[in-house]
Amino acid sequence: MKTYTLPKLNYSYKDLEPFISEQQLMLHHSKHHAAYVNNANNLLTKLREARENSSDLDMKAILKELSFNIGGHVLHSIFWDSMCPNKEGKEQKPYDLIENAILKVFKNYDRFKSEFSKTALSVEGSGWAALCFCPITQELFVAQIEKHSVNLYPSFDILMVLDVWEHAYYLDYKNNRASFIDNFWKIVNWEEINKKYSELV
Ligand SMILES: [Fe+2]
Repeated sequence: MKTYTLPKLNYSYKDLEPFISEQQLMLHHSKHHAAYVNNANNLLTKLREARENSSDLDMKAILKELSFNIGGHVLHSIFWDSMCPNKEGKEQKPYDLIENAILKVFKNYDRFKSEFSKTALSVEGSGWAALCFCPITQELFVAQIEKHSVNLYPSFDILMVLDVWEHAYYLDYKNNRASFIDNFWKIVNWEEINKKYSELV
């Protein structure tokens, strides 16, 4: 039987420095993300065992927990692919198909960046900013996800996410979420996001 597994990063823990420190990234990936993976697998085991034993379950509670943990696993996996090392520190810009798609909806890159940053900054408590693709309108769409699974749009493809849970930045930036968001733009992996987008259109 297949289970959820913690994905390996395409870079080492120190490769996103100076924007995300080795310690911050290591804790985030090997502790926080790993916990969501383990919790999701444990919950599925609990469901399976209850079926085998014909025992009762609090379905509302377990499904809420499952959505939270699977959402955490899926979003973190997308988050790691949304970033790449940038030793020069110069902000990378979208190009090719994803650039055209951004220009079509947001008119210019700065407008897109501003909407996405404000989305991330204004998350109440813990959550994410996400760049999605709507299969109905065939256009890009910025979403604000609370926790790991609230305000998700069924069937929308998620191309890029920014984690603004405090565990994502507190060691490096303390309570300065805005500064973390500013620096995120320097390590966006536009090659990967463009690749994902080009597979959809
Ligand atoms: Fe996180």
